[in-house]
Amino acid sequence: MQMNSNTSAWLAAAGVAVLVAATSACSKSAAEAPAGTAAVAPVPDYQLTGTIKDLMDSEVDPSADYLWESVATTVTRKGIDEKRPRTDEDWKEVRRRAITLIEAPNLLMMEGRRVARPGETSENPGIELGPEDIQQIIDGDRATFIQRAHALQDAAKKALDAIDKKDVDGLSNAGETIDKACEQCHLKYWYPPDAADRLKAGAGSVRKSASDR
Ligand code: HEC
Repeated sequence: MQMNSNTSAWLAAAGVAVLVAATSACSKSAAEAPAGTAAVAPVPDYQLTGTIKDLMDSEVDPSADYLWESVATTVTRKGIDEKRPRTDEDWKEVRRRAITLIEAPNLLMMEGRRVARPGETSENPGIELGPEDIQQIIDGDRATFIQRAHALQDAAKKALDAIDKKDVDGLSNAGETIDKACEQCHLKYWYPPDAADRLKAGAGSVRKSASDR
């Protein structure tokens, strides 16, 4: 009982899904370790080399593009071209992309992952928020960022389910859900109109604390 309440307090404090998994595993082994030999949790030495921008560019965007383009109907002069995965190799390849898209949000959610490198600026200022602004909004409400990343994972899992059933319509529908998950996160963090509203309506405290520094 004592152990349970300690454990749940500890879990509540952890706050990050990745950490929750690690802590619950290690608190269990601590409970089983003989007195005086407290188990030392091995701390994974994560190296957060890529930025969110890098992960978008190298994992999220190419995988999603591949999935979206894997099912397409094109009307040509010669007739209708129905593009879809057909061979086992085709299905294997879309599956690889779905797995990347499911796992990439875990990387996005890691504590300490930066939006961009210092000095990197928005490619389209005025249309997109700059990395510092995005960073502030994320840091001011990590729960929402994590929720948006989970939404992408859930959407990509739908694609994986469809792929494992070789269900072309299911894959196509999952593609639309994935698209919405991208958009929902970008609306919040990347495009100013919505983000600016957020800053006015509460997330303003994020701004304030930055200018206080
Ligand atoms: C959990 C939030 C989140 C989700 C989900 C998300 N993105 Fe992003 N994305 C961002 C943020 C934040 C940026 C802005 C980073 C920057 O470029 O400064 C961004 C930027 C990008 C960029 C520009 C990268 C660059 O080089 O500047 C592309 C492309 C992109 N996202 C594609 C996608 C696609 C495709 C999906 C869905 C499959 C997606 N994103 C889902 C948060 C997200």
